[in-house]
Amino acid sequence: MQWRRRHCCPIKMTWNVKRSLFRTHVAGLLSLASLFALFLIYCHQDLLQGRSWLRDNPLVYTMRGLRPHKERAKGNQSTLRSLWKDNTYVLPKPSVNFNFSSHQAEITARGIVGLEISPSSNNSNTIGNTKSLHREMGVGGRLAAQPYHWLLNEPYKCNESSPFLVLLIAAEPRQLEARNAIRQTWGNESVAMGYGFVRLFLLGRIPNAYPQSSVDEESLQHHDIIQQDFLDTYYNLTIKTLMGMSWVARYCPHARYVMKTDSDMFVNTEYLIQKLLKPNTAPRQNYFTGYLMRGYAPNRNKDSKWYMPPELYSSERYPIFCSGTGYVFSGDMAAKIYNASLSIRRLHLEDVYVGICLAKLRIDPVPPPNEFLFNHWRVSYSSCKYSHLITSHQFQPNELMKYWNHLQSNKHNPCLNMAKDRSGRPRHRKLQWEGLR
Ligand SMILES: *[C@@H]1O[C@H](CO)[C@@H](O)[C@H](O)[C@H]1NC(C)=O
Ligand SMILES: *[C@@H]1O[C@H](CO)[C@@H](O)[C@H](O)[C@H]1NC(C)=O
Ligand SMILES: *[C@@H]1O[C@H](CO)[C@@H](O)[C@H](O)[C@H]1NC(C)=O
Ligand SMILES: *[C@@H]1O[C@H](CO)[C@@H](O)[C@H](O)[C@H]1NC(C)=O
Ligand SMILES: *[C@@H]1O[C@H](CO)[C@@H](O)[C@H](O)[C@H]1NC(C)=O
Ligand SMILES: *[C@@H]1O[C@H](CO)[C@@H](O)[C@H](O)[C@H]1NC(C)=O
Ligand SMILES: *[C@@H]1O[C@H](CO)[C@@H](O)[C@H](O)[C@H]1NC(C)=O
Repeated sequence: MQWRRRHCCPIKMTWNVKRSLFRTHVAGLLSLASLFALFLIYCHQDLLQGRSWLRDNPLVYTMRGLRPHKERAKGNQSTLRSLWKDNTYVLPKPSVNFNFSSHQAEITARGIVGLEISPSSNNSNTIGNTKSLHREMGVGGRLAAQPYHWLLNEPYKCNESSPFLVLLIAAEPRQLEARNAIRQTWGNESVAMGYGFVRLFLLGRIPNAYPQSSVDEESLQHHDIIQQDFLDTYYNLTIKTLMGMSWVARYCPHARYVMKTDSDMFVNTEYLIQKLLKPNTAPRQNYFTGYLMRGYAPNRNKDSKWYMPPELYSSERYPIFCSGTGYVFSGDMAAKIYNASLSIRRLHLEDVYVGICLAKLRIDPVPPPNEFLFNHWRVSYSSCKYSHLITSHQFQPNELMKYWNHLQSNKHNPCLNMAKDRSGRPRHRKLQWEGLR
């Protein structure tokens, strides 16, 4: 999913402003001096505030503009709201003592009931998923288990042994370049360091133009594409994700962990495996984690990509869900989620939908051990930050390669420049280096 977020960078602005002022010399000189003074004060404050956090987590530094955790701890959502207001879910009015656990229970008890499939229900709805719903409508109040047939499948990937990690990557058929970049970077088998690893790109049927034969060829070459006969559109992302879940349930039921992510993501697979999933610890069950989205209200603005018609979802809030840009779960969950989905009406918002399945299963997603691991926006690059996170969003294939290679070559001391980064000057250098985008 495309969670667009605009980045605001006060330093960069100041610098640009400075430069233009510099050209209009005399009048500018005074302003320049005062701007510089402000800049110094800014840096100073930044250092003071940043230092104590930095000791705990180098990533905090990234989030300087956001400062989420202090406020969030108190249930103050204003920071979050400003983060989201330009594009996605509309946050409800702030309610300081909002009780998420009882809220979750309420959604499970009431909200889901309205979504349960019943043969008599009159589901003539909007968003054009009526057709696919009809196609999937089964008998006895359950959706048909396999409504779409396979165009490409990889049924034997887990024959020999069960992998430690299955990567399910939602991609559009035409995104060959992105798939190749992922194959060479975070989707390369070598990241799993000998623990079993399966990479699968999830595709739907090609709407037009792009020839299926080239996808077939690519599949022959890499054996990492699964594809079913539903139209590959944004609104069918839920179907696509469920295809991945059902694949794991059916062909790879003993996979230890599964991650679902998108083709425009940076995923630090090594960090995911070593620091979060820890191959040498006991396998987890009923485990689901990612970037937690709590207490979000359905978007009722008809022009929005995230519009949710009240007829489809009437409850005032979504249950807790994990951002679809990247979530991780234990292998047992694939079958559970897929089975639950067969009695829940399809909603086009994939991550919300999976959250509803979890609520029905009464399994709460757990927060990751640190809240900077999963990012559904783009974290500005530094080898230090990227060696301590799991996801970052919005990457072009060439950027992915560039940053990945940089990260690999600084692997043994990724935070070497951390101290320098914090003093004003090298930051300019960093900004220039990143100025390419
Ligand atoms: C939430 O934060 C905003 C700005 O940070 C502040 O104005 C407001 O008073 C806070 N509300 C509560 C309930 O703490
Ligand atoms: C939240 O709701 C649950 C279940 O209704 C209840 O047990 C718990 O005490 C509530 N917590 C707060 C802080 O109100
Ligand atoms: C279903 O809804 C349509 C239009 O909303 C209505 O005309 C029709 O009678 C309804 N059918 C049933 C079985 O309720
Ligand atoms: C996987 O199992 C199938 C059926 O049991 C068999 O036909 C196939 O050769 C096996 N593939 C591998 C790679 O072991
Ligand atoms: C995967 O990584 C290994 C080791 O770094 C490398 O030799 C191989 O070429 C990579 N595969 C791809 C498809 O880039
Ligand atoms: C989803 O796929 C189905 C099956 O191909 C198709 O009928 C339907 O139009 C698609 N839905 C959207 C919104 O594209
Ligand atoms: C699948 O879901 C149905 C209804 O939601 C439930 O009755 C059944 O026990 C589930 N089966 C498994 C194997 O989880």
